[in-house]
Amino acid sequence: MSTETVTFNLNDRDITVPKGTTVMEAAHKHNVYIPHFCWHPGLSIAGVCRFCLVKVDNRPKLEIACNLQATPGMKVSTLLPEVKEAHKWALEFHLVNHPLDCPICDQAGECKLQDFYMEVGKYKSEMDRPKVLKPKALDVGSELVLDTERCILCDRCVRFEQEVTKTGALGIFNRGDRAVVGTYPDKKIEHNYQDNLVDICPVGAFTSRDFRFKQRVWFLKDQPAVCPGCSTGCHVKVYGKPQVRTYFRVKPQESEVNGHWMCDVGRKTYKHLNQDQRLRFAVAADGKGGRQRVSVAEAIASLALQLQGVAASDIALLVSPQYTCEEYDALFAFFVKKLGVSKVFQWREPTENLDAFDGLLYRGDHNPNTFGLSEALAKAGLPKDVKNGFEDLARSGAKVVVALAPEIEFQFPSLAGQLQKLSELAFVSVWTTSGSAYNVKGLRHLVPLKGFAEKKGTFRNFQGKVGELAKPFPAAVDEAKDVVEVVTALAEVWAHA
Ligand code: SF4
Ligand code: SF4
Ligand code: FES
Repeated sequence: MSTETVTFNLNDRDITVPKGTTVMEAAHKHNVYIPHFCWHPGLSIAGVCRFCLVKVDNRPKLEIACNLQATPGMKVSTLLPEVKEAHKWALEFHLVNHPLDCPICDQAGECKLQDFYMEVGKYKSEMDRPKVLKPKALDVGSELVLDTERCILCDRCVRFEQEVTKTGALGIFNRGDRAVVGTYPDKKIEHNYQDNLVDICPVGAFTSRDFRFKQRVWFLKDQPAVCPGCSTGCHVKVYGKPQVRTYFRVKPQESEVNGHWMCDVGRKTYKHLNQDQRLRFAVAADGKGGRQRVSVAEAIASLALQLQGVAASDIALLVSPQYTCEEYDALFAFFVKKLGVSKVFQWREPTENLDAFDGLLYRGDHNPNTFGLSEALAKAGLPKDVKNGFEDLARSGAKVVVALAPEIEFQFPSLAGQLQKLSELAFVSVWTTSGSAYNVKGLRHLVPLKGFAEKKGTFRNFQGKVGELAKPFPAAVDEAKDVVEVVTALAEVWAHA
């Protein structure tokens, strides 16, 4: 875009924007809301919904703001009665064939059509003909269900397929009130970005298989977070019901890292946070070759005892790159700087292709903080190479192993096997969110950890950009701690032993 600027007037306020900016973009950037369906900041302009009408001084007709370039001295109003009246009629037009199934529609509560209807609806419809019925609940993709009768033909989904994923699976077929959105005969929506179609569909035509009918959105709370699914580190919002300790979905949050989008793999990262997937309490060796359920404080005391019984050269750390920078700093400050441990290994999935990239967002390094871990290792004076160190650990002869298990288990198919192998090495303390660790009986010591949506801290993405976990949900598991809390408690017991 040009470095030249233009100044125009919007609702009696002078706004200066780069030359070439549309009135819609200018309004969006300056927090003036112009109602719209087809315009989306991440897609090209279609100008098909005719809902973003505004009044330009000295021009005879209302004009669409999404395709109207701001020019010097232009005076635009979104507030005049004639503009409001136009919105009312445009909305009536969109509702001609739209079913009034809001009470059972999964989009209710975050549907633009519903919101605008409440704002400017023409509550006494003048339509006296039956609505044209269109196909419902179509299977168009592994993550998606499409109800074409709710579609208002805004064309966002078609443009997304053409411009973002470049898969072009969708089109608008037929004409007039028979027009429907759908997949081409030989195509299905098969990519890793399907749920973005649910996000951008302004009505409930696209719904998510994973989420639909599970919750009413107004019962959910959301918190900003960073996706832990790969080293891109997309900015997201996690949605859950803290009062019943259940998470339901993850959605993208606009940022310079991920634009408006996120991938479907990242959207599944909420699943392991739910209580039924979690390690819910601590476990410690009972001194007779078995193990018992204990409090976290008791588990930490028992670990301190184990550590005091061996030389630093007999202690090893096995660390997954899925923890925060702050957690690594605390871990290395105690184990490396204070105890003098130098055997530190990285816990990676053996089949991971770290250099893979799908060209949009998803990366082959399925860890959110490889960069942060490397930096923390370097700061602690340790080699920062990113190879899988599991076999090296097995050969190291360590007598006590402290292992931070990968949090996002579904990205780590070898986890069960590796936990089993770990259980065969000396005394192993696994710090983890994963409930499956409890079933590996040979593991002598377990500490339940908080998940990514439940703690504060930072990840550094593949470029070193910082992503913040700033507003945690309360942990779904009472006993769960983050690594900083565990290490702080461990250091305290150690100091007083
Ligand atoms: S399915 Fe949704 S996004 Fe696609 S054209 Fe219809 S209303 Fe627009
Ligand atoms: S691209 Fe990576 S960081 Fe972004 S949503 Fe997908 S898994 Fe998460
Ligand atoms: S948002 Fe401008 S015509 Fe649709």
